[in-house]
Amino acid sequence: MSKKHEHGFGIDIGGSGIKGAPVDLHKGTLADERIRIPTPQPSTPEAVAEVVREVLDGFGWKGEFGCTFPAVVQHGVTRTAANVDASWIDCDAASVLRKVTGRDALLVNDADAAGVAEVEFGAAAANSGVVLVTTLGTGIGTALVVDGTLVPNTELGHIEVDGFDAETRAADSAREREDLDWEQWGARLTRYFTTLENLVWPDLIVVGGGVSKKFAKWSPHVSTRTPMVPATLLNEAGIIGAALLAHR
Ligand code: BGC
Repeated sequence: MSKKHEHGFGIDIGGSGIKGAPVDLHKGTLADERIRIPTPQPSTPEAVAEVVREVLDGFGWKGEFGCTFPAVVQHGVTRTAANVDASWIDCDAASVLRKVTGRDALLVNDADAAGVAEVEFGAAAANSGVVLVTTLGTGIGTALVVDGTLVPNTELGHIEVDGFDAETRAADSAREREDLDWEQWGARLTRYFTTLENLVWPDLIVVGGGVSKKFAKWSPHVSTRTPMVPATLLNEAGIIGAALLAHR
């Protein structure tokens, strides 16, 4: 394969689905249509690893791969499990993935993978300095990228704002659960992003997660001093970032 079309493989493990595809590492795009398989319940590490193997087999992918996970991942060990099965806490998940799939695996926090992809190929591609990528979904994920270098596991979705764990009030799931309109949710996001800005003073905030597609609807209700832009790689960012980090 020529250098120009070098491919990697990325998998995105989420609470409801496990998605994967080969990735063109130079263009930062999916090289084939992704496969999505529902996350098994209970979502134990072994059961999830079996599905990961199925996704890899679906493409006949034999090499190393990158894989996202929606919690803290330190050197292959999953440390927390905010919105996933508690059996992941302190699990050597990268080893489980290697054993079950028979391939070399790199495991990374989902927001960190998405952040790396957005900085490399997406909404923040032309930016240096301090870029803060946030994903608003079931939880709030954050990635802090400084002049292209990722500071892993920042977990700024769990900072305390007005006495609450921020993601329980400002995630997209909170908007849905409490049936907030764009203005009400915008007020929550203003509180959240203002607190974040005062902590890390970013040069740019990128907002990802499914609701970034509706950026035009809610962003007029959010006031920040930092420029804020929607993510552009959308639900492919995790797959692309994971493949990129595994390759590196
Ligand atoms: C987790 C993060 C994760 C985020 C998005 C949070 O609840 O603590 O690790 O990145 O959800 O999935």
